[in-house]
Amino acid sequence: MAYPNLLVEQSDRIAQVTINRPDKLNALNISVIDDVSKCMRELDANPEVRCIILTGAGDKAFVAGADISEFAGFTVEEGRNLSAEGHRKLFDLIEEMGTPVIAAINGFALGGGLELAMSCHMRVASDNARMGLPEVSLGVIPGYGGTQRLPRLVGKGRAMEMITTAQMIDANTALLGGLVNHVVASDALLEKCREIASKIARNSPTAIGYAIAAVNAGDEGGVDGFEEEIHLFGEAFGTDDFKEGTSAFLEKRKPDFKGK
Ligand code: COA
Repeated sequence: MAYPNLLVEQSDRIAQVTINRPDKLNALNISVIDDVSKCMRELDANPEVRCIILTGAGDKAFVAGADISEFAGFTVEEGRNLSAEGHRKLFDLIEEMGTPVIAAINGFALGGGLELAMSCHMRVASDNARMGLPEVSLGVIPGYGGTQRLPRLVGKGRAMEMITTAQMIDANTALLGGLVNHVVASDALLEKCREIASKIARNSPTAIGYAIAAVNAGDEGGVDGFEEEIHLFGEAFGTDDFKEGTSAFLEKRKPDFKGK
């Protein structure tokens, strides 16, 4: 399928999705959100795709936020719908996908841009990246999961400071706080992400999907993450990937996982 706002490449079981709106610093309007959502669904369903790298076009920004020009005149109800639709269509979707998504943060990740990166399963930043949730400087609050996912990643105190001051932090501060996993030079960013992705691509996609679901269960209200782990651990024993993984080990060969 063609996505007007995206560049999509695929090789060696790794897909790279680039949000391609560099003149607006890749700001998320409804059309971009639709494209990323549909593209992610398609890649998640593709058995040949074992890991996805998400990045922004140009050398300035990953994503500089939700498109301010699109929501500036919204009413209370329209604002609520914008947030609810975004959660459902894209941010929750990515978090719950069984295919791991790595955010390659190649510059500004602000507001909805940082929220998008936080909905991914892990983040790698270039050393010139700047991250923040500036919404309160616009008279609004983070509405694509930022008030929930940022404290989970960096702790409540650090999240409160970032949200209430609306200030950006640099890549090394993000690394120290646990917001990103690695910081590398700009020209090494995609290579670092591909290195992680290729390690992921060797493993059982079914087991990876179960592991993501078990980790996420710990964040869900009313769900016992340990119980979910026990359940999914048991389910894994019924999969072809489990048979292949254990047989390959015992036969001293590399596994050939077909799962997903
Ligand atoms: N929504 C809509 N347009 C945006 C945008 C956003 N979130 N972020 C950047 N843009 C647009 C700018 O309006 C500008 O468009 P124009 O050339 O048609 O005027 C273009 O992208 C380039 O941005 P510009 O502000 O000129 O770049 P800069 O290098 O001077 O500043 C930022 C970069 C990121 C500091 C600045 O663009 C900014 O503060 N953006 C908004 C960040 C934000 O508040 N995001 C949260 C939204 S909830």
